Amino acid sequence: MSENIESHLEEKRIFKPSAAFSKKSALGSFKAYKKLHAKSLKNPEKFWAGEASHLLWRRKWKKVLRWKLPFSRWFDGGQINASENCLDRHLDGPRRNKAAIIWEGEPGERRTLTYQQLHRQTCVFANVLKRNGVKKGDRVLIYMPLVPEAVIAMLACARIGAVHTVVFGGFSSESIKDRLADSGAKVVVTADAGYRRGQVVPLKQNVDHAIEGNTAVHRVIVHRRANLDIHMRDGRDVWWHQEADAVDANCPPVPLDSEHPLFILYTSGSTGKPKGILHTTGGYLVGTASTTRYIFDLREEDIYWCTADVGWITGHSYLVYGPLANGATCVLYEGAPNWPEPDRFWKIIAELGVTILYTAPTAIRAFMKWGDEWPKKHDLSSLRLLGSVGEPINPEAWMWYHKLIGGGRCPIVDTWWQTETGAILISPLPGATPLKPGTATLPFFGIDAAIVDDKGREVPHGEGGKLVIRKPWPSMLRTIHGDKARYKKQYWSEVKGSYFTGDGARRDKDGYFWIVGRIDDVLNVAGHRLGTAEVESALVGHPSVAEAAVVGKPDEIKGQGVVAFVTLREGHAASPELADQLRRHVGQAIGPIAKPDEVRFAEALPKTRSGKIMRRLLKQIASGGQISGDTTTLEDFSVLARLGNNTGE
Ligand code: WTA
Repeated sequence: MSENIESHLEEKRIFKPSAAFSKKSALGSFKAYKKLHAKSLKNPEKFWAGEASHLLWRRKWKKVLRWKLPFSRWFDGGQINASENCLDRHLDGPRRNKAAIIWEGEPGERRTLTYQQLHRQTCVFANVLKRNGVKKGDRVLIYMPLVPEAVIAMLACARIGAVHTVVFGGFSSESIKDRLADSGAKVVVTADAGYRRGQVVPLKQNVDHAIEGNTAVHRVIVHRRANLDIHMRDGRDVWWHQEADAVDANCPPVPLDSEHPLFILYTSGSTGKPKGILHTTGGYLVGTASTTRYIFDLREEDIYWCTADVGWITGHSYLVYGPLANGATCVLYEGAPNWPEPDRFWKIIAELGVTILYTAPTAIRAFMKWGDEWPKKHDLSSLRLLGSVGEPINPEAWMWYHKLIGGGRCPIVDTWWQTETGAILISPLPGATPLKPGTATLPFFGIDAAIVDDKGREVPHGEGGKLVIRKPWPSMLRTIHGDKARYKKQYWSEVKGSYFTGDGARRDKDGYFWIVGRIDDVLNVAGHRLGTAEVESALVGHPSVAEAAVVGKPDEIKGQGVVAFVTLREGHAASPELADQLRRHVGQAIGPIAKPDEVRFAEALPKTRSGKIMRRLLKQIASGGQISGDTTTLEDFSVLARLGNNTGE
């Protein structure tokens, strides 16, 4: 039996950077990337020190890295403030009056904040926090819609050395409760409500439920977003705007030790309670600022739009800290992509002249499903660079994104990283790396990524295995909040001496990294280990399929059988014939071994609120079992009820 993950899909399309793009980009050629990458791996600390020197330090570090596996200290002895780097630093020159944030609410209103204005409002809110008892090191829980105040609240915490823990505004009271208990936050920042798909989401009410009977939370600061009539508890709840009137705008940033905690962000483990991923200040800022500059090829005149919510790591790193540290103009959109119509994104891009778009495969596949007519209605010619994050982007979705959205001229940066890694670790550099649809290509500078077998030995190119990172990097998580043992076990016990990502991957003959899915999801069919991403990608390659999720179910003969859950594109109907066609299609694309035993049609797939398919639930459904384990991150519970046994009959 083979112990490594096999790979059968071969992608032959290759897209070289255009001369016009390369000429203007930071790196210019593949040769330059390779040379700099090799150099950076010989001495990562030198590379990162160079990157750190782009930031403003209040005191220079004594040592770039102190490494006592698995605990790192970066830029030790140095002092820095993240809010100062994102704001104050830009106020001396023309960036002072440049738009930092262009915000659009779901109902359609727009607000622009220049760097000067964002700075002022951050200072005011930092003083509000202080006035309400928040001190350096205290945790502040932020539960907000995607409005500028969410960013202001984060930067205000960073300014005074408080540690923010942002909880996505789509999460329930229950999730807030868990995160409050684990983080020990005593102050909550929220809004009366937010807008989502035309509905008013009662955020403050959710907070009220979450803190019922919790005496630790002594203050709730409420931003008025929707003019909703809400209950304000005397002595505990205060209005943001009233508090702001009571303070001045003078709040110098506090110099903080490089290893001072910046934030805790919770991410769900596949089982058990959510993990509070802890990131610290200096290294995180160096990692996010440096990757933003290189990977998004930022220029002064760009209008950059990362569609993630601040409740995710992508929102932290590439909506707030990375772009603002680079003085970028960032678009923020509060609502759903299909509200009021499925062309909302394209309308925003055309009207604001967005040049860089960073979004997720789940959104791209939804757009494909809604039909080509929506993007075609708008002029998307301002775009020059596209990005993808969160899941493997299957080649068909990549091609659609490239053609329909990028007009065939925009490079796509398929960026691989995790909440834990803080910043992008594997990604093409636009203008330098030749692209292939479906691969995140090659590691960033200073990143030593490898694919290893169960014994930790690097496997030859073409073979699958576990994706590990062999050297520490500045934006790596420092620990799981309050649980060092879990940190060690989860990330550092699987492969000796290396950080284990939990992902399965392989490298092709050019050394490019292909993520094949989470190791826990890997299928084992008659002794062959198959990544879920490949089978799914083959299914989505069929013209009728919008989205697919593949799981294993126990099979007496083969060990595991393959069950495919499929949603169809507009205009296609489920039938037993189509199910058969799809089985054959996978057989042809990958090989008979990967042919699904069952194809089940579904209206929608169960996803987390950040858009990842919850294969764990599908596995339980496929084996006819009961749904158990943590479902608090599930986006839409009705999806589960609708996932019947539809084989098209
Ligand atoms: C997956 C999101 C393939 C992967 C930033 C990883 C990807 C997990 C990619 C982390 C990509 C993210 N290609 N897979 N470009 N980006 N993933 O913590 O399985 O929400 O381990 O961080 O998403 O998800 P997280």
